[in-house]
Amino acid sequence: MKTTLHTLQQMAEKGDKIAVLTCYDASFAALLEGAGVEVLLVGDSLGMTLQGEDSTLPVTLSDMAYHTRCVARGSKQAYIVADLPFGSYQESPRQALRSAAQLMAAGAHMVKLEGGQVMAETVAFLTARGIPVCGHIGLTPQSVHQLGGYRVQGRSEAAAEQLLLDALALQQSGAGLIVLEAVPATLALQITSQLTIPTIGIGAGPGCAGQVLVLHDMLGIYPGKTPKFAKDFMNGAGSIQAAVLAYVRDVKSGAFPAPEHTF
Ligand code: KIV
Ligand code: NA
Repeated sequence: MKTTLHTLQQMAEKGDKIAVLTCYDASFAALLEGAGVEVLLVGDSLGMTLQGEDSTLPVTLSDMAYHTRCVARGSKQAYIVADLPFGSYQESPRQALRSAAQLMAAGAHMVKLEGGQVMAETVAFLTARGIPVCGHIGLTPQSVHQLGGYRVQGRSEAAAEQLLLDALALQQSGAGLIVLEAVPATLALQITSQLTIPTIGIGAGPGCAGQVLVLHDMLGIYPGKTPKFAKDFMNGAGSIQAAVLAYVRDVKSGAFPAPEHTF
């Protein structure tokens, strides 16, 4: 059965955890959805995992459209979320719509953008025009040079309060999902319980409605530094398919993320 935003919303209401992985091509799209991954995220992390860049900043809109098309061709039932890359949406709601339209035409079912309150107007503009939007707050990699590195966010009381306001502003503007990256588990749980839309955590503890990892991190094949919150599911798995099945099982049961993957 095809996964829709409605399906994901119902899963969150029932407390059924949503399993998400990044995906960049047709073969993995088929494998991941066959193993029970509900959402395929065509992440701009492909700048690092596929292109060998040291950040997501060089990724272009045409790169994202190309990989979204590859994933869409390999997928029959997953919900496909595609990242709006750096510089393709921050200028104005109209710029965001033009860029989002290219990803939707390439086969995305939803676009994701980084930022909270500051992006609220853009999220409202897109969702009012039929383009579902996933927010992304906490550690937002497109802002790495502003944040001073890839580090946990929302540690101070003021920063935590701002993240809650950001999440509420995104929901209010029509966002259908929100990614929480590298925030303390207690804060992610608090945000999740105050929202009606599902949260998808990465380094945000077990209290989120779903979990996401970068595919190359969960397969243990990224040659660079991997974050504390990543887990290599190939360890002891024997095959890629078994590793992905283990990830889905552990997300569903709540076994992943464990305390050692959590802030
Ligand atoms: O680009 C990406 O892979 C992401 C996830 C880590 C959430 O945005
Ligand atoms: Na991303």
